[in-house]
Amino acid sequence: ALQAVMKKAVELAPDSWIPGGVPDPLIAHKHGLVGTQVSRLDGPLKVTGAARFAAEFPLEDLVYAALAYSTIPKGRIATLDVAAAEALPGVVLVMTYKTAPRLNPTPVMMTAPKAVGGDRLPVMQDDRIHWNGEPVAVVLAQTQEQADHAASLIAVTYDTEIAMTRFEDAKADRKNASFMGAPMLLEIGDAETALAAAPHSVDRTYRTPRHNHNPIELHGATLVWQGDDLILHDASQCVAHVAWTLAQVFGIDEAQVHVTSPYVGGGFGSKTLWNHQILAAAAAKLAGRPVRIMLSREGVYRMVGGRTLTEQRVAIGAQADGHFDALIHTGVVAMTSHNNMPEPFILPTRSAYAAGSFLLNVEAVELDMLANTFMRAPGESVGTFALESAVDELAAQLGVDPIALRETNEPETNPTTGTPFSSRNIVAAYRSGAERFGWDKRSATPGTRREGEWLVGMGCATATYPYYRMPGGAARLTLTKDGHATVEIAAHEMGMGTATTHTMVLAERLGLPMDKVTFLYGDSKMPGTVMAGGSQQTASIGAAVIAAQTALFTELLKLAGNDSPLAGLKPSEVGGYEGGLCKLDDPSACESYVSILSRAQRDAVSVEAAGSAPLETQHWSMHSYGAMFAEVRVNTVTGEVRVSRFLGSFDCGKILNPKTATSQFRGGIIMGLGMALMEETQFDERTGRVMNPSLAEYHVPVHMDVPEIEVIWTDIADPHAPMGAHGIGEIGITGVAAAVANAVFNATGKRVRDLPITLDKLM
Ligand code: MOS
Repeated sequence: ALQAVMKKAVELAPDSWIPGGVPDPLIAHKHGLVGTQVSRLDGPLKVTGAARFAAEFPLEDLVYAALAYSTIPKGRIATLDVAAAEALPGVVLVMTYKTAPRLNPTPVMMTAPKAVGGDRLPVMQDDRIHWNGEPVAVVLAQTQEQADHAASLIAVTYDTEIAMTRFEDAKADRKNASFMGAPMLLEIGDAETALAAAPHSVDRTYRTPRHNHNPIELHGATLVWQGDDLILHDASQCVAHVAWTLAQVFGIDEAQVHVTSPYVGGGFGSKTLWNHQILAAAAAKLAGRPVRIMLSREGVYRMVGGRTLTEQRVAIGAQADGHFDALIHTGVVAMTSHNNMPEPFILPTRSAYAAGSFLLNVEAVELDMLANTFMRAPGESVGTFALESAVDELAAQLGVDPIALRETNEPETNPTTGTPFSSRNIVAAYRSGAERFGWDKRSATPGTRREGEWLVGMGCATATYPYYRMPGGAARLTLTKDGHATVEIAAHEMGMGTATTHTMVLAERLGLPMDKVTFLYGDSKMPGTVMAGGSQQTASIGAAVIAAQTALFTELLKLAGNDSPLAGLKPSEVGGYEGGLCKLDDPSACESYVSILSRAQRDAVSVEAAGSAPLETQHWSMHSYGAMFAEVRVNTVTGEVRVSRFLGSFDCGKILNPKTATSQFRGGIIMGLGMALMEETQFDERTGRVMNPSLAEYHVPVHMDVPEIEVIWTDIADPHAPMGAHGIGEIGITGVAAAVANAVFNATGKRVRDLPITLDKLM
């Protein structure tokens, strides 16, 4: 059946580009723009305050929402007194489970193509409490301050029930987990026997804590019902998905929900659909007023899931020459009965190293807690910490350089599927990174480089993240008679440079200057179902734009007709150059867009096309890669760790805009430094309550924590990906924690296997 689907998709693919077949013509294009440093087009709007974020949309007659949260992890609401709140001036409405409209359960991520809920629980539909922090009341008031004050006066008592909030207790009932519908258990050969028989081995347990989402823009929405239609200005990385999922919750047609999200202050996997949008929409319906909801920072910790904790075993059995006989990566994660996200930490291990045998598995236990969710490089970020620490431990035991050990086990094809790699230059990335970083100055013996109170060490680790391209990309491309092109696609700009980069790409494809190209996005009424997630948005947009470009060229050639120098040419025989179409390899056969449209007496030509099916991932094993290098200084008096230098050497295909790409890589690395050294959600296992729901107590790196970060890349285009590009949004966080932990070991001789590496663990 899969073969038939693939064959059909190949037939339907635009003739200019067949995934897994003919490379994207843009790769061979003479580049004026792609690959040059272009500043973000939205930058001036943001720094002048002109960019309008979700909680800034002005609406007539607007009221403000605040939430009250449960303080027990499980049970029933016994009494709920809202009288004091209702009596306050300015209060318009207090909504509880007693008054909330009936809602359908939220379709959660990966259960349907457009499902994007974080949590499938029906919210505020009965008196039950499922996690500590579950919302129990929504207040609407004339001002935010009135709403916040009223919410603080809501008095709740509970009939508590025994909750499962301890990971160790829950582990008695662990189950094999699946990810994206497929089991994660993978066995090749008999890895346990091979491990036992191997002359050299490591067998260790690594732990990573819960992490909360902290995008700088708090989760918020401004929304209004117009009859039975809902207009939602959201902070979103998936506008089309939110529209569909909200429609399911309210039992209305998808077309009745209009979601916009022009600017987003960071998402990282958290800007999907959580209960705040649903409750605000429900309350707006009850009140008959437009509603603005913006969660407090604490509210984000109570309502928006984060990354769950993991306990991972990595065992490697090796020959004396370093070749792996056995690679085991297994472990347990916590999740809930009402979500669908067992942190898939084994993902990087599927393709990282050649080995004689494999045993990979993720088991999950269910706790009574807020649903956990995706966070930047789900799986790889924490999985590479364990895997790449273990590789370093084995290198130390064998007395070989950790880079050499990785090269020894570099696979020729994907080691667990046999699929060929589309483009994998990780050894080159290591070599150029090592040279640039001065790896040869690293002392092989831990604890031997000392500067005053400080022990200095270097470590490295592999970064990796899969190439994805989700189906559903589509674009509308309009060319007007003044020679201006506009592309519309329901995609997202969360600050990573999408709008800028795709303006560059479209300008390059059409042979137009950037000021003749407009990229419109962030609106569910536009074509396509494109999520800014899985580091795949650029590929998805790219494939949609390839299809739209082919459709546009087809249309233009028809309009050009027999009087044009382009007469008789097929779309695949022309390219966009200097404001018009030219025959490929023959710049004398050209006609400008303005000329084609004016001769045809057309004001505009507009086409809409869907991107080809993502078949490249069936033919090839495709990933982004990187080699991470850290230098750390560990204080022998206080145990404090300072990262003094960091370098990321990446192999992510063609880099389209080096300026925004550098920021993406750096941002990921900084998030990785937080994971390595400070980020940790303090979860009280007695009560299931998050104890540090603020940036005062949940530490993330500040400027003083971040050293100079150098970023380099191979820039080798992947012929099987649109634009030759691999994703760059998530890979930056992967490998970082292991590189830091390995550097700490090199500095001190102490191996820290549970994150974060706080000073108490080094004293
Ligand atoms: Mo990312 S965790 O796919 O937004």
